[in-house]
Amino acid sequence: MQQAVLCVNGQYDVLDSWFSEYGIKRAMLVCGKSINRLAINRYVETLSDRLDARIVRFMEFQPNPLYENVVAGVNRFREENCDAILAIGGGSAMDVAKCIKLYSNMPGDGENGAYLKQTIQPNQLPFLAMPTTSGTGSEATRFAVIYYEGKKQSISDYSCIPGTVLMDSSVLKTLPQYQKKATMMDALCHAIESFWSVNSTEESKVYSCNAIYGVMEHMAGYLANTDKGNAGMLMAANTAGKAINITQTTAGHAMCYKITSLFGCAHGHAAILCDRILFPWMLRNIDNCIDPRGAAYLRSTLDQIGQAMGCRNAQEGSEKLEIIFDNLELEIPSASQTQFEELKTSVNPERLRNHPIALDPNAIDSLYHEILR
Ligand SMILES: [Fe+2]
Repeated sequence: MQQAVLCVNGQYDVLDSWFSEYGIKRAMLVCGKSINRLAINRYVETLSDRLDARIVRFMEFQPNPLYENVVAGVNRFREENCDAILAIGGGSAMDVAKCIKLYSNMPGDGENGAYLKQTIQPNQLPFLAMPTTSGTGSEATRFAVIYYEGKKQSISDYSCIPGTVLMDSSVLKTLPQYQKKATMMDALCHAIESFWSVNSTEESKVYSCNAIYGVMEHMAGYLANTDKGNAGMLMAANTAGKAINITQTTAGHAMCYKITSLFGCAHGHAAILCDRILFPWMLRNIDNCIDPRGAAYLRSTLDQIGQAMGCRNAQEGSEKLEIIFDNLELEIPSASQTQFEELKTSVNPERLRNHPIALDPNAIDSLYHEILR
């Protein structure tokens, strides 16, 4: 299914049309508190004045949302007879909304983790997502992460990809600069990691390439907070999301999670810390290629990444990535010996399998020593 994209800048007439087109009477709005600072909040509050439709807000979830949060959302969705879902927010709001959609037509009440074990029956509920950062690309992916009994649950189903995305460049105007930098780096890392992933396809590489072009083209305008730069970065992040929807991420993301939890960096900050070191490391270790397409294929792919970045080849691309990182003045955390020990055993081996070059525990340890101080 092709995702419809609606681009706006603080004006939402097009949303009225979305409600009318689908005949929506009661939409569940999944959102965080950040909606209060956004222009869309006023639109949502006054919707019933214009249309024969009502919004049911659902905000009872936490960052790293729990399964129980989703069950509460599903119950509310049913009690209120909702007929559509709107998600406005970052990754957590998207994850919750995706799961509510998937579970809304499942039998039972979800007690004792039941929905996690039941078979998903795709449904046609209208689902519109409006990202409030330009980073995760979650609005373009089939993945959702929730936690049940302390364990991460990775949910993946094509029917949870929002049919419509509303890209509102005005939401980025008031985002703190650190968050803007980190989320842009998340999008760039998605595009790069997807490009070199062993799961890449011709289609995913087109998305990766276009996402890298978009980040490069709009970086200056986005950091200067122009409307054009912000709109371009939202599109680039969405396109990078489409790429990882096909391939998933690789070693950079596998290695960055522990950096986030140990040092409190934003996710995209941690991802670029890793990828800026991984890129040149891959060039030095290309003989350990495990992509069945071979080392020559991988080298030409890495060259294509460099070219998408406006360079002649992979080497120049990896140097440019370091320059981009330096110019953003993102901190490089210092790790203690104990933290290095913790880091090297933290990496999810499942994700490493998507990486095109084998990474053994020694390689991971020495990479962390390059990534951090
Ligand atoms: Fe990411």
